[in-house]
This record gives sequence, C-alpha cells and structure tokens, in this order.
Amino acid sequence: MVFRHPKGVFDLLPLSPDHSDQWRNVHLWQHLEQVIATLAFRYRFEEIRTPIFEFTELFARSVGEETDIVSKEMYTFEDRAQRSLTLRPEGTAPLLRAILQQGLHLQGAFQKYYYIGPMFRYERQQAGRYRQHHQFGAEIIGDPSPERDAELIAMLLELYQELGLSGLTLHLNSLGDQECRDHFREALVATLQPKRKELSDEGRLRLDRNPLRLLDSKEEGDLALLEEAPSILEFLEPPAKEHFDALCETLEALSIPYTINPRLVRGLDYYNRTVFEITSSHLGAQNSLGGGGRYDHLFHQLGGPEKAAIGFGTGLERILQAALDQKVPFPDLLGPTLLIIPLGERARRRAFLLAQESRSWGVSSEVDLTGRRLKGALRNADQVQAEFVVILGEDELAEECCEIKAMRRHTSEKIPLKSLRSYINV
Ligand code: HAM
Repeated sequence: MVFRHPKGVFDLLPLSPDHSDQWRNVHLWQHLEQVIATLAFRYRFEEIRTPIFEFTELFARSVGEETDIVSKEMYTFEDRAQRSLTLRPEGTAPLLRAILQQGLHLQGAFQKYYYIGPMFRYERQQAGRYRQHHQFGAEIIGDPSPERDAELIAMLLELYQELGLSGLTLHLNSLGDQECRDHFREALVATLQPKRKELSDEGRLRLDRNPLRLLDSKEEGDLALLEEAPSILEFLEPPAKEHFDALCETLEALSIPYTINPRLVRGLDYYNRTVFEITSSHLGAQNSLGGGGRYDHLFHQLGGPEKAAIGFGTGLERILQAALDQKVPFPDLLGPTLLIIPLGERARRRAFLLAQESRSWGVSSEVDLTGRRLKGALRNADQVQAEFVVILGEDELAEECCEIKAMRRHTSEKIPLKSLRSYINV
C-alpha cells in the first residue's frame, strides 16, 4: 500500500518547470520567503516563531467562540494529560501570547514583529482553501497612530507589487469602537428581526448570537436582505471617525487607491476600527490575498496592559497562485557552478575528492558517479544547467590536468588541476 497525504494539504517539491502545479514548487516558496524577509527588514519588523499548537482557550478567547474558525474549523485534540490543544488556525493570538509571556512588550514604546508559517483550518476543500495553509503576518503592537495602519497596508501592497502582481483592490472599512458597534448592532437587529423568517438558518443563528457576523454571510438571500441595513460607517463616534479619515488621507498622500466597503467585517472577532482586505482579480472565488485590521483591546483581553495594535496576514499559496496566473517571471533556478564527470574507476575517487574540495571554496558543485558514458553525462550537465563541466579521464589524471567546458560560452580547454579554482574565478 502507498500512503497518501490527507485531504486539503500538499507537499512542496522541486518541480520541473513544465509541471502544472507550479505553486507547489519549493523554489518559488524559497524565493517568496526571501522577498518577505527583505521587505520585513526594510520596514523594521523582527521575526518571531511560535509553536504550531497552543492551548485551545487562547483561540476561543481571541478569535471568538462564534466565529467559523473557532466553532467549525479548529483542529482541536486532547494530549495524553487531557489538556485541550489546538493546531493554530491563525498567527495573531499566538504572537501576542508569546510577547506577553516573554515580556517583549516591556522593551520600548512599540514593537513590530512578523511570522511566516503553517496555519490549520478544517475547511471545505476547494481551490484556494486548504486545511494547512501558510501565512506571512506582520503586527505592530503599542501604537494607535493611523499612520501605522497606512504603513502596514503600504508594506503588504509593496510585497505584492514587488512580486509583479496586478489587478489588486484594497477594501477598507472601520468597525469603530465598542459603543459604535453596540449602536450599529441594535440598528442591524431592528432592520432584520422583522425579516427573520426570510433569513437562512445560518443567518438566523448569526442574528441571535453575533449579528455583526451577518455582514460576512455567503448566502445570497441574506446578502439581499442586508441591502436595506444601515452602514456601520454612519455609526462611527468622533474618535473612530477621525482615525478613519486620517488613514484615508495618509493613503491618498501615499497615492494608494482604496475602495470603502462598509460590509467588510472579516471573520475574526478581535477587530475594532480599521479593517482591510486586498483582493486579486487573478484568483477565483477565494480572492482574498490578505487582510487584517486593528485589534486595540486584544492584548488586554489576553491578560496584558491596554495596547493598541494592528496587523495583517496573507496566504503564501494564494500569492503564488495569483502570480502564476498572471505569468509573472520568477528568477531562474541556478544550476551547479561545477559538475565533475570522471571517466573510469581511477578517476572516480579523484572526482569525488575534487567536488568536496571545491565545496570548501564556497562553490556549488556536483559529481556524476553514475558511470554513464560521456555523451549521457554531458546531456545531463545541459539539463541541470551546469556552468562549468570538468572531465577527468585517466590521461588527464596522469598529467594532473582536466578538461573544462564553460557551458554558456561553449568553450573547452585543458588546464592544470591546480588552476581550476582561479579558472572558475573563486
Ligand atoms: P485571515 O483573513 O483569516 O486573517 O487570513 C489571512 C489570509 O490567509 C487570507 O487572506 C488568505 O490569503 C489566507 N488564508 C486563510 N485561510 C486560508 C485557507 N484555508 N487556505 C488558504 N489560504 C488561507 C487572519 O488569519 C488574521 N490573523 C490576520 C491578521 C493579522 N489580522 C491582524 N493581524
């Protein structure tokens, strides 16, 4: 029997360029991770790596009991000591937990951290939705300035643009402060309660338990009823309104276009004030590339002091899928600098030792120990895009020489082995 991986997860592999599922090509992931690390460095975000699982309570308390993520999608299990643990469905709560536990929030007025890693959600399988997906997330803790909202949005857009993505839309909304949401909730319930029967089962449940979640609904009928509901933006109190206006102005100063979308609430309960999402016209139904928002009270809710905060998360799978759909160019994978081909048994040992020695010079090198004929070995050298090929035959060995082919220049010459290092210029 051959084992297969479970549904909704995937392997990242060094796929050949003509493979149809290029988004699983590990070379593209390595490239993307490098672009992210450089971007994070420019914006002064430090990396934090948290464990893959946490106590379940952490997510219930932060993401929210009534959200789809907590109520339907978590991989929760008991360990051998009957503690309830959960594979992290998102990265914000674990990051705050780590900051609080390690006292990082005591170092300086504000902190900027980022993470890259797998997240786990038991989702219905479809294109763009996986049970293990990967996120790059960035969070700023301890700064309520609207400029920080703009900085994060600009950084996320810069990532997409640097990778060559186009067809992007930035959706923006404000969920205001608590009082504003209370008033909006009342107005929403007052509009929808009389139409209760027309709502879907899920819609009725949301109306009773967490009416704001109705705005998130995927049911066409519910969405039509929501047309008559007021906009949350009409309920913003002056401080939240000023914050939102300042963010919009800052985005305009940065020449970043945006669309205000008063229905945008996002699927997690911890947000207040700014929420945003960036969609791509190059993805199907799951068109959200990334999103985030303010969560000014979450730090306190998790046992820390009041600290305003904002962040985003973006899915690496979706970034690569959008990029490939647009056929954006990725850097070519480099072949070995040196490929050594021994001809005959005696040359084999020497070729192996030479490969080892060249690696100590910092050269990326490979040795062909297959024993195949020269013609086949050269064909392989072409395929793997070797820069230099060294051929070591018995005659060359006797003279302490080798034949070296510079594959891109199509030249070939005989050189002493001791000149090899300077020949390849290291
Ligand atoms: P989220 O919107 O749930 O936010 O996820 C962020 C991004 O992760 C999405 O925009 C999408 O690209 C990707 N994503 C989410 N679920 C899946 C899935 N099942 N399969 C593939 N990709 C997926 C958060 O998780 C928040 N923690 C973001 C945040 C950080 N807010 C503040 N700070």
